[in-house]
Amino acid sequence: MSMAIQSICCIGAGYVGGPTMAVIADRCPHIQVTVVDLNAARIAAWNDPDLGGLPVYEPGLDAVVGRCRGRNLHFSTAVDAAIAQADMVFLSVNTPTKTRGIGAGQASDLRWIEASARQVAAAAQGHTIVVEKSTLPVRTAAVIKTILGAAEGETPSGRKSFAVLSNPEFLAEGTAISDLEAPDRVLIGGEEPAAIEALASIYQQWVPTERILRTNVWSSELSKLTANSFLAQRISSINSIAALCEATGADVREVARAIGADSRIGPKFLKAGPGFGGSCFQKDILNLVYLCRHYGLDDVAAYWESVVSLNSWQQHRISTKVVQNLFGTVTGKRIAVLGFAFKADTNDTRETPAIRICADLLEEGAQLAIFDPKVSTQQMALDLGQPPQHPPGGNALSGEGVWQVAPSPEAAVRGADAVLVLTEWQQFTTLDWPALAVLMRQPAWLFDARAICDAHGARAAGLKVWRVGEG
Ligand code: NAD
Ligand code: UGA
Repeated sequence: MSMAIQSICCIGAGYVGGPTMAVIADRCPHIQVTVVDLNAARIAAWNDPDLGGLPVYEPGLDAVVGRCRGRNLHFSTAVDAAIAQADMVFLSVNTPTKTRGIGAGQASDLRWIEASARQVAAAAQGHTIVVEKSTLPVRTAAVIKTILGAAEGETPSGRKSFAVLSNPEFLAEGTAISDLEAPDRVLIGGEEPAAIEALASIYQQWVPTERILRTNVWSSELSKLTANSFLAQRISSINSIAALCEATGADVREVARAIGADSRIGPKFLKAGPGFGGSCFQKDILNLVYLCRHYGLDDVAAYWESVVSLNSWQQHRISTKVVQNLFGTVTGKRIAVLGFAFKADTNDTRETPAIRICADLLEEGAQLAIFDPKVSTQQMALDLGQPPQHPPGGNALSGEGVWQVAPSPEAAVRGADAVLVLTEWQQFTTLDWPALAVLMRQPAWLFDARAICDAHGARAAGLKVWRVGEG
């Protein structure tokens, strides 16, 4: 017999906590779900009656939140109260790469996970199932158990006890709602059958039973790091072949189609591009690298580390291509950058390839005009580490790299020597190249790092075209 869950608290109202809990609330109207966060502005945005103000942009998210919010989905900053009421607490806080101290640059920074575990230990009442939703180094559940264990026992309000499960999240941004509504699998790692079944019974409301996998805790934690590492490895593999295609006259899309037709390889995740971005691939591989080194597996660590180095190399390769083709200098030249988000259909810019590529071009003295349909100017300023600025009036060749936001692709390309496409937004696939080309300073280039634009149309309009992976 599994324990029937009536009340859930989720700590962390970010890209994972918000959408995941919204879908649970939608599919389980009998469960009260409260998502809590320390960040009051973020909670206010989740509670914004105008759904356009949600802090996370995801197709379909506003409809799900609109159906449940106020009914059985709540967003709050009252963390302790929500924990006290909950039968089950999800930990969905951030776990970025450590920037200082032991393991800096590789290990996960677990300060937020530990703080939230301590808060659960203090505020929980009765029996509480604690679920690791954040991506964590293998064996973190042991740390959480130790922290919670110290708080177990009789209390004035009754006996306090805990069970710990690992339930990593596999959603991808931009498709979060469809991924959550129809997941390839749900993974539950744990030791206590009652707790495992309590969590499984929630997912069983909408996920077919055979897609709910049960493993031990360590396998579950490690499967998440492994899944992201394998996915990222495919991108580095195809990007490495893209460079060889360009050198040899092959076309990476034809190669991808040919190898993807092999059912052992499969067709997905074989798109060459400006390198992977997003908050997790790099962080999770580096975490895996750190763990391997910790366990003395230096060759295994080096193997996975090369996936990340290839990715950085690909990003620098693209900025170098732009500079080389623009006669070796971009100083004082206007370059239109189309797309800043790390992928289409998200406003997330964490680790976006645009940051490194734009930084390289700014270092070379370029004047960037950036257009992205979802990323705010403030976010770009944070990412680029300098405020937007108009190009210097008199001396365009002063060498100072500047950037500003353009309100449309047309505005971005006006007077530009090149257009650089970095995100595969749908609207870039139908750009009107004859209309854009006349706005540019000739000879002008299209650098299509996603190979999504109408290259034929751009060439016919007189532009020189470079597409990733095209020889
Ligand atoms: P995020 O930064 O968007 O959200 C985390 C939230 O947790 C923040 O709003 C922060 O204020 C809050 N928080 C931190 N400590 C807290 C505390 N003690 N009490 C209350 N709130 C606290 O992060 P995210 O993208 O949602 O990722 C969360 C976890 O999920 C990470 O481990 C990540 O690796 C993993 N993950 C992310 C994705 C993704 O697509 N973003 C997908 C799968 C897994
Ligand atoms: C990824 C995984 O796909 C999710 O399963 C996982 O839950 C998540 O990381 C996480 O742990 O955070 P996400 O980063 O949101 O999801 O997006 P992806 O679709 O995986 O794309 C990651 C990056 O790879 C993007 O920059 C994308 O443009 C790039 N990519 C993807 C390619 O360059 N080529 C491809 O063929 C696919």
